[in-house]
Amino acid sequence: MEEKIAQLKAEAAAAVQGAADVAALNDIRVKYLGKKGAFTSILRGMGSLSAEERPKVGKIVNAAKAEIEVLIGRQGEALKTKELEARLASEKIDVTLPGRNVPMGHLHPLTLTLERIKDIFVHMGFSVEEGPEIERDYFNFEALNLPKDHPARDMQDSFYITDEILMRSQTSPVQARTMQGNEPNKPIRMIAPGRVYRRDEYDATHSPMFTQVEGLVIDEGISLADLKGTLELFLHQIFDENVGVRFRPSFFPFTEPSAEVDISCVMCHGKGCKVCKGTGWLEILGAGMVHPHVLEMSGYDPKKVSGFAFGMGVERIAMLSYGVDDLRLFYDNDMRFLRQF
Ligand code: DAH
Repeated sequence: MEEKIAQLKAEAAAAVQGAADVAALNDIRVKYLGKKGAFTSILRGMGSLSAEERPKVGKIVNAAKAEIEVLIGRQGEALKTKELEARLASEKIDVTLPGRNVPMGHLHPLTLTLERIKDIFVHMGFSVEEGPEIERDYFNFEALNLPKDHPARDMQDSFYITDEILMRSQTSPVQARTMQGNEPNKPIRMIAPGRVYRRDEYDATHSPMFTQVEGLVIDEGISLADLKGTLELFLHQIFDENVGVRFRPSFFPFTEPSAEVDISCVMCHGKGCKVCKGTGWLEILGAGMVHPHVLEMSGYDPKKVSGFAFGMGVERIAMLSYGVDDLRLFYDNDMRFLRQF
């Protein structure tokens, strides 16, 4: 019997030494020391022993169990340390490695251009107003002196939703909205950037959706000289100080007099080239003195105040300042193009 116990103890001790991890060690504990374990079954079988032998064997078994328990405890500590070391090694972070770059986006060239335009006007004390892209016929046309069936509507006859509602064809409706949102005759100095929609071709220089910036200044004694000075300053800042600026008489129903404003060609500096079609000039915006009737319709008194207005295309300015020759590039979302800005 004693031999059998010694053998079992040696076997258990070897198993404990050989346990590869904490889980295996637990299995070994159950196998030898558990309720159904090998040592327990020896104790259970003691009924067949004589009365003198029983306490002796019981003592040996318990001593063996205690020894194995100690071995398991030691091995357990050793395995835990080993496992922790392995985990620390596998989770080690090399803080000296160079960081990974997070790919960052950047602003779209049209947004960049719009930001530059806004910046220049905000520095001149203009506020930035907004209006809806789905607009009432009244604000888009009627309040701007374009009554129903006015022939000047043809150029902009556009995307109608109902007879009275359309995708705005210009940012000029924000003029009437701003005036009507004010107390009568309150001075205004604002720009209104935004998208506009027109039934138009989609080619290198046209798109049925594009971006405009509207401008409106109203106060006592505003004159054509203020319009010229403001636009010249703006054009010199957005292009360059030496760019030529010229005003040509034109017609817009909401301004009188009206002008088309040209700059000297940014490609050939006025000599004449493909971009300016040999003229040396590029048309850049429309402008004029606000028509007295437009003031009146929106509650302003043309005998007390006067004003000027202008409207420009952001795509055109972006094309000229970046030397882009196809407007569609701004909308194609081709990363090879966009990455250049
Ligand atoms: N709304 C005009 C257009 O889309 C541009 C324009 C011209 C706006 C003259 C103005 C202006 O405010 O005075 O063609």
